[in-house]
Amino acid sequence: MIHVRVMKAKNPEEMGKLAADQFEAMIQTKPACVIGLATGSTPLPLYRELIKREQEGKIDFSRVRSANLDEYKGLGPDHPQSYRKFMQENLFDHISIKPENTIVPDGLAEDVQQMCAAYEQKIEEWGGVDLQLLGIGHDGHIGFNEPEDYFPGMTHEVQLTEMTIDANKRFFDSVDDVPRAAFTMGIGTIMAAKKIVMVVTGADKKEILHKTFWGPVDPQVPASILQFHQDVTLICDEAAYPL
Ligand code: F6R
Repeated sequence: MIHVRVMKAKNPEEMGKLAADQFEAMIQTKPACVIGLATGSTPLPLYRELIKREQEGKIDFSRVRSANLDEYKGLGPDHPQSYRKFMQENLFDHISIKPENTIVPDGLAEDVQQMCAAYEQKIEEWGGVDLQLLGIGHDGHIGFNEPEDYFPGMTHEVQLTEMTIDANKRFFDSVDDVPRAAFTMGIGTIMAAKKIVMVVTGADKKEILHKTFWGPVDPQVPASILQFHQDVTLICDEAAYPL
C-alpha cells in the first residue's frame, strides 16, 4: 500500500461529514475549483451535508465547476435513472452552482468519439480536476471502468458487466431496463485529478477495498491503480474498513 490516507467514520453520516470537510477546504482555498463527482448510493450523505453547509453559509458553490464521472448510454437528461437527473435531484438543484458549470457525459451522443474528446477538452480548459470524488463497485470499478486486461485511458464507451448491471438494477423497474453500455471518464482522466477522495460504506465493500489498496495493482481490479496516485484519501465507515 502506498500513499493512501485512511479516515475511518463510525457510519455513513459521519463519512458524509468527513468527505464534506475535504470539499469545504478545497472550495475555501480555491472558490472556482473543479470538482469531479460520482453518483450511486454512497455519496448521498455527502451531498446532503454539502447542501446543508451551503445553506449555513459555510460553502459557496457559485464559482465551482463540476465534471461527473459517467452516464448511461441512451439515457437523456430527463430520464429518471440518468446520472444527470440524479445529480440535479440530489445536489445541483439545491446549491448555487451554475448549470453551465456542471458537465455530465451526454448519454444521447451520436458521435461518441467526438463527445468523449470534447469532454476531456472541457476538463482541460478548466485546468483539470482539483478534487475527484470516487465510489467503488464490488468488482473494483471506478466510474464505469470495469475489470479489463489494461487500464483504459480517457473518456470512452464501455459495456457494463453482469455484476454491475445486477448491482444497479435496484434503481430500475426491472433488470432488462438497465442500459448495457455507458460513457465514463477513463482511468487516465481519473488519475490526472490533483486530489482524490474515495468514499466507501458497508460490509459488502470490505473485501474489494482490501484488494484495492492492499493487493497488487491489477487492471482486473481497476481501482487498484489508485495506489500509484500521490494524493488519495479513503473515507470509509467501520463496516467497510478493510483491516
Ligand atoms: C457512479 C460511479 C460508480 C459508483 C459505484 C458504487 O458515478 O462512478 O463507480 O461509485 O458503482 O456505487 P454505490 O455507491 O451505489 O455502491
